Amino acid sequence: MSGVIGEGYNSAGKKSVEWYTPAWVFDLLGLRFDLDPASPHDHESFVPADRTYTIFDDGLSKEWEGRVWLNPPYGRDTPFWMNRMIDHNNGIALCFSRTDAKWFQDAMKAATATLLMSGRIDFVPGNENKHKKSRSGAGTAIFAFGVDNARALQRMSDRGIFVSWDRVSA
Ligand SMILES: C[S@@+](CC[C@H](N)C(=O)[O-])C[C@H]1O[C@@H](n2cnc3c(N)ncnc32)[C@H](O)[C@@H]1O
Repeated sequence: MSGVIGEGYNSAGKKSVEWYTPAWVFDLLGLRFDLDPASPHDHESFVPADRTYTIFDDGLSKEWEGRVWLNPPYGRDTPFWMNRMIDHNNGIALCFSRTDAKWFQDAMKAATATLLMSGRIDFVPGNENKHKKSRSGAGTAIFAFGVDNARALQRMSDRGIFVSWDRVSA
């Protein structure tokens, strides 16, 4: 098994979502987050967030407050997480670049800005994926919801194609 994200399986035979955002993304954004609602329960996270929910809390069912960082569990639940982020409308969401998917198009329409990243990110493997190659099996998109978050995302604009609706309407 290759260990490429989207192909890695955990011990329960389910595709693993235990791949984490590398610290350099947060260094570039320079933001602090109030909440990470989808956080590892048994591994260090690089997300600079004051509060976290893990799978044992079920972050999707909880209140979201303030600036949220979201790298959702990948798979069939991704649309529910992304729709929640659209409704919350404050924060940054990083996900697979599935430009044909309805959830992706809904997020891009709703986001203040989107960064379609060049190349592939090496995500940090969780415990069930360690020793596997961490290169993502797809490209990455980062959505910013809210003007301050979009300004932070713009600091990474040399990492891909930065799309802001403001620019289109100006
Ligand atoms: C792709 S990882 C991202 C982790 C971290 N937010 C980051 O950006 O590095 C998704 C995480 O969500 C967790 N997760 C899965 N289902 C969840 C749920 N219902 N509520 C909260 N967290 C959940 C997984 O255990 C996993 O650690």
